Amino acid sequence: MRQERQIELLERVAAAGPRLVGLHGDASATNPASAYTDRDRFDIEQRVLFREGPVFFGLSGDVPSPGSYASMRIGGVPIVVVRQPDGSVRAFVNACRHRGAPLVEPSGRGDGLRTFNCPYHAWTYELSGELRARPLTGGAFDDVAADCDLIERPVAERYGMIFVRPEGDDAIDVDAFLAGAEDDLAAFGLGDYVHIESRSSEWNMNWKMFFDTFSETYHIRTLHKDSIGPVFDANGILFEPFGRHLLAVGLRNDTALEFDKPKDEWSLLPYGTIQYFLVPNALVVHQLDHFEIWTVEPISVGRTRTTASMYAPAEPQSTREREYFVKNLDLLLGVTLNEDFPVMQEIQATLESGALPELVYGRIEPPLIHFHRAVDEAIAAG
Ligand code: FES
Ligand SMILES: [Fe+2]
Repeated sequence: MRQERQIELLERVAAAGPRLVGLHGDASATNPASAYTDRDRFDIEQRVLFREGPVFFGLSGDVPSPGSYASMRIGGVPIVVVRQPDGSVRAFVNACRHRGAPLVEPSGRGDGLRTFNCPYHAWTYELSGELRARPLTGGAFDDVAADCDLIERPVAERYGMIFVRPEGDDAIDVDAFLAGAEDDLAAFGLGDYVHIESRSSEWNMNWKMFFDTFSETYHIRTLHKDSIGPVFDANGILFEPFGRHLLAVGLRNDTALEFDKPKDEWSLLPYGTIQYFLVPNALVVHQLDHFEIWTVEPISVGRTRTTASMYAPAEPQSTREREYFVKNLDLLLGVTLNEDFPVMQEIQATLESGALPELVYGRIEPPLIHFHRAVDEAIAAG
């Protein structure tokens, strides 16, 4: 993150006072339980936010060289992104044009692909999506008039990030989508980052609960009292909106130490967990020396798949260096999967029981309020 941005954000922390009250939002809000449980609403969210997109797909480093591919389901649509021989990326529906089998695993990645080879009856496709062969069929498909090339979807690669549109043909304007967040994101140099490891798991929670978990630090003092609680400041969170997206920075409780230095030496990075929420499906987290990126794949109104990925600034030069990053992923998942998501599952079950009419978001949780308002506005517009 550019230093002037770090100073600007730290100035807001300094001005917020020792209890960070100055970081609080203008007004509290409530959200009906149905926002998390209504199936019709979920279908609209899937269409408007996830399928019509655009949505974040991953980093350039997820598909580092020609023949590298990555896949995931977005709004139910299986998408594969593959790096072409000329270095560009293309996105396809990850489904064979014969009878629809996935060409590569539905959620995964790999390298060295020369053609797509369907695992069901062995139709093959060029990386450009063109049907290459239907082997060993004795000409049995020669009379087929249907288009049998892969279905291509719009994709854009910018600032080291890849975005796709799972439904519709409109080209993706990345800057318009990021709504100003591209300034910071471009400065991160994400294009140089190297994928270390990804881990996925499924939870009985609405997809928005994923963002709820990360969008306030208020719970850290209590829910995480035995893990990260002692290290972080639970009094407030730095928040800036960018269109439907947002920046939320969680602060360590010793951030004020930085204010003893001359201002032009201030650095936020040792104190802040810098989180970009790219609505609807990604959380880009900048830690001091690495990036953690989460993606969410809603499966149903009450079930969500999450994937956490670790990226290093360069290829680790030793096993020990690689283990350092893996250990960071262990720590992150240790807290999130053991402390956060289990509570989210209980909340989801309670909301589905109909026993609670609404949830309350306080002024100490401004990213939470912005996120839900942005989702409401997007589905109202769609
Ligand atoms: S489904 Fe792919 S070859 Fe039959
Ligand atoms: Fe948490």
